[in-house]
Amino acid sequence: MSVAAELRARLSGTPTIGVIGLGYVGLPLAVAFAESGARVVGVDLDARRVAAVAAGRSFIEDVPAATLAPLVRAGRLDATDDVTALKEADAVIICVPTPLGKSKEPDISFIVSAADAVASIIRTGQLIVLESTTYPGTTQEVLLPRFEARGLGAGRDFFLAFSPERIDPGNTQWRLRDIPKVVGGLTPACRELVTALYGRITARVVPVSGPETAEMVKLFENTFRSVNIALVNEFAIMCRKLGISVWEVVSAAATKPFGFMPFWPGPGLGGHCLPSDPYYLSWKVRMAGYEPRFIAFADEINRHMPAYVVQLVADALNDRARSVRGARVLVLGVAYKPNVADTRDSPAIEIVDMLTAKGARVAYHDPHVPALTVHGARLESVATVRPADYDLLLVLTNHDGYDWPALAREAALIIDTRNATGGLGAAANVIRL
Ligand SMILES: NC(=O)c1ccc[n+]([C@@H]2O[C@H](COP(=O)([O-])OP(=O)(O)OC[C@H]3O[C@@H](n4cnc5c(N)ncnc54)[C@H](O)[C@@H]3O)[C@@H](O)[C@H]2O)c1
Repeated sequence: MSVAAELRARLSGTPTIGVIGLGYVGLPLAVAFAESGARVVGVDLDARRVAAVAAGRSFIEDVPAATLAPLVRAGRLDATDDVTALKEADAVIICVPTPLGKSKEPDISFIVSAADAVASIIRTGQLIVLESTTYPGTTQEVLLPRFEARGLGAGRDFFLAFSPERIDPGNTQWRLRDIPKVVGGLTPACRELVTALYGRITARVVPVSGPETAEMVKLFENTFRSVNIALVNEFAIMCRKLGISVWEVVSAAATKPFGFMPFWPGPGLGGHCLPSDPYYLSWKVRMAGYEPRFIAFADEINRHMPAYVVQLVADALNDRARSVRGARVLVLGVAYKPNVADTRDSPAIEIVDMLTAKGARVAYHDPHVPALTVHGARLESVATVRPADYDLLLVLTNHDGYDWPALAREAALIIDTRNATGGLGAAANVIRL
């Protein structure tokens, strides 16, 4: 039997699967493979994460401890900081961060160190998959040479593929298993093996012609979101100028059964992905002699939104003969999106910082985020929301669980950037984006 055929048989049986990077992407993936009957070994440099997983404790909202703990107890899922534990793995999946550097250039240092770690243990008969969002060409230009330098042949001795992660943390309707998985293998054998691997955990695997196409698919999806969010954010600005509700406009437009898809405005983009990913593409394409325009333009509009929200606050206070300086502001929700604890690149951080710099006395409440660091200062979520203690409530994230009718009754003023109060209709003390 060829190496590929042997690996194919193992992937259909009870394989050992290594996951490097146990974060928002890696931990749910590790759990899904363990639930599929595989033995999973997770590797992370963060000792606290390793200890938590090894003890069956989850730190990701979408992975309940009740799911994780029995898998750990049954010996189906283990965690370590030692990559040599992956020597026996049939497949190794890399899910490490891909942030931006200071000049918005891709920082692939985590991919490089994970690839070096894999290169130190790679052997004949392994499938290596990169899942981190990155520029087209990374798998072939960064991973492949490191593995080939070990004297192994791609598509013959070892197998290499890219498969973008598409999970949407906090989304209970579309979970990992329900989302089709795009895969791009380096060779036909790589493609067949990566298709078999993900066939264990998803109902539909979508093979594309190669890793760079799969890398580009993810960047297209995220650029599409970023551009459409910028468009609707600009519509929010235009609607305000014309005295029209952008929320009503988008809701009505969304009744068109074809050719339209609703996106909603907000206080700015956040999270690990949307603000950064498109820049991976512009960087790569710029090196090929083309300067992309949509990406930079969308980013300009989206990055302006926190300042726009601060201006809304200042104008609303001004209309009530108040200044921002000295105003008591309670921000509701600081995570970058509803029902998650993730504050990476959250626009709330910038908005709190700007309001504080203007002299406002800012507190926040977020049921998912007990503490937040803004410009070096540590803030703690207030335990309860007492609207009477503030001049205004500023809604930045519409987490479930708030009693909006009660808050609107009690608050002097609400500035709502998420239409959380939309069901209440027009009210003199509620201003929506
Ligand atoms: N968070 C999302 O919703 C999402 C969705 C789709 C794609 N992605 C992409 O997936 C990738 C991972 O994102 P994430 O949100 O899971 O990141 P994360 O920060 O939550 O997790 C990454 C983990 O990798 C670990 N790590 C870093 N370098 C390592 C190394 N060399 N060896 C072992 N562990 C290492 C970190 O300690 C961390 O625990 C990124 O490229 C991101 O763009 C994220």
